[in-house]
Amino acid sequence: MSYRIKRCLPEHLRTDAARLYWSAFGAKLGRVLAPEDQALHFIARAIDPSHVYCAISSDGELLGVAGFRTPHGTFVGCEQAHLRASYGRLGGMWRMACLAVLGGDHEHRAMIVDGISVRPDMRGSGIGAALIEALCHTARRRGYGQLRLDVVAENTRARALYERIGFVVTHRRSRRLTAMLFRFRTVLIMRRDLGDLG
Ligand SMILES: CC(C)(COP(=O)(O)OP(=O)(O)OC[C@H]1O[C@@H](n2cnc3c(N)ncnc32)[C@H](O)[C@@H]1OP(=O)(O)O)[C@@H](O)C(=O)NCCC(=O)NCCS
Repeated sequence: MSYRIKRCLPEHLRTDAARLYWSAFGAKLGRVLAPEDQALHFIARAIDPSHVYCAISSDGELLGVAGFRTPHGTFVGCEQAHLRASYGRLGGMWRMACLAVLGGDHEHRAMIVDGISVRPDMRGSGIGAALIEALCHTARRRGYGQLRLDVVAENTRARALYERIGFVVTHRRSRRLTAMLFRFRTVLIMRRDLGDLG
């Protein structure tokens, strides 16, 4: 299937992007963001369309998304107002506290990948690599020297892809709290130097 990589999410694909994000990260986020219908409602509202690259088929279907985070915004943020609108006041408050555990840090030198997901039936056909390449170029244009992504240690296939396209593990972070709340303990921080992009 042919596709193109596009900067920014078209407004009519917001719900599809939320579904794609949930299909990739629902297993991790489920304890905190379930039930699914409320999670999808929240994610769709929280998406910042200007902080994502999309893969779109020639029929206009959304095949993949790759979000990014800078000091100016992030693909799926966790603002109290969005959480309250989806879960109510109390439900929003405790979820906000849990999501704060995930951080959402910024770096001076590196642009940070905030979630990459390809439609399950389209995986393995180069879309993920093309999306990351687009992120590398936008990071470079914005003056960053590196692109950083955080990958759960058990996600060995994703890690193999990242290593193949030039990322190296620079450190690892292990936390009991994320194991309790999000079902993963160890995250590998991977970086790609962007100097070769000119
Ligand atoms: C990781 C992911 C974005 C890669 O996208 P993709 O379009 O399949 O990637 P490409 O086609 O460019 O590269 C294929 C490589 O991706 C990796 N990969 C990871 N998970 C994969 C999957 N479920 N199916 C196919 N390839 C996968 C493999 O290294 C594969 O190479 P291989 O065929 O030699 O094993 C995609 O598999 C995905 O959405 N996974 C679920 C969400 C996820 O894990 N996100 C990453 C969080 S850091």
